Amino acid sequence: MARRRLPGPIFHYIDGAADDEVTYRRNTEAYERCDLLPNVLAGVEGIDMSTTVMGQKLDMPLFCSPTALQRLFHQDGERAVAKAAEKFGTMFGISSLGTISIEEIGATISTPKLFQLYFHKDRGLTNGMIERCIAAKFDVLALTVDTITGGNRERDLYTGFTSPPRFTIDSLVSFVTHPRWAANYFTHKRFELPQLKDYVKEGSNISVSVGDYFSTMLDQSMSWQDAADVRKKWGKQFCLKGIMSVADAKRAVDIGATGIMVSNHGGRQLDGSRSPFDQLAEIVDAVGDRIDVICDGGITRGTHVLKALSLGAKACSGGRLYLYALAAAGQAGVERALGNLHAEIERDMKLMGCRTVDQLSRDNLRFR
Ligand code: LAC
Repeated sequence: MARRRLPGPIFHYIDGAADDEVTYRRNTEAYERCDLLPNVLAGVEGIDMSTTVMGQKLDMPLFCSPTALQRLFHQDGERAVAKAAEKFGTMFGISSLGTISIEEIGATISTPKLFQLYFHKDRGLTNGMIERCIAAKFDVLALTVDTITGGNRERDLYTGFTSPPRFTIDSLVSFVTHPRWAANYFTHKRFELPQLKDYVKEGSNISVSVGDYFSTMLDQSMSWQDAADVRKKWGKQFCLKGIMSVADAKRAVDIGATGIMVSNHGGRQLDGSRSPFDQLAEIVDAVGDRIDVICDGGITRGTHVLKALSLGAKACSGGRLYLYALAAAGQAGVERALGNLHAEIERDMKLMGCRTVDQLSRDNLRFR
């Protein structure tokens, strides 16, 4: 449905990834190389799938990763995703490149809220976002560490995708052929990037590709000292998003992070990078007793979540798993997507003979 509703460049921005998209495909395929071993006769009439991650009690072990530019996909954008996540009692992440403000989300959403910080060259902007999150009572700050430069997203290069959309002959044709999207886009509140707009015009007034935004606006000198300084300034639950190596996971512990999202940014940055599920065991074995490990990426089924939890992840997260649904049907779509995954996790836990998520363990898994 998202493919039908969205102008091509916008659909491919969501659906696409870097280079040959090998990592993007592998993020999901990785779950298929491992089998579940169920137990039976376990008395599973009442399932409790709640989990606690970075101090946040979630009613389901899967949350909505922060993603950018959501009002391009549906006019309600982050507002729709946050409300759907709230209904399922799970966490929702909003991006520095989000299209609804930190303040609105802070004032309207009661369930746990995560803010995804992009470390900009403009320190006033970076520090300002941290202060706004403190004032809006966000629960978790996630510093993105895998976008030090833009990934080679060839679909975006091919379609010419920018934010905001550029008015070229091709884009006008795609607006005309997607009249419902165009009518919504042009009749609703003007598209803006409220976390950034007082500091930069790129992305809201000046059209730019996401790859170029990363390469020109973010600070490539970002270091462990900077991450430690952000954590100190923030002072609450702190997570690094985009950790893949054991060495980096250990350093995350050293600087006082309370969580890491094992992630390759949905295959959108370094193609050929390992999948989060394949890399999970190494990281859990090294730091799982000292920091909450989250498996971010590739999830399309409840069984994928059960496999990651069995390896030792505290929770899973994903972006595309709700973005297609947002594009297709706004809040109702996201509720349907989360509802389907919730139903699958519940059914699969019963079939696995597990009443609570801590009953899932490596004894339940076999790798081929
Ligand atoms: C992406 C960023 C913005 O497009 O998260 O991958």
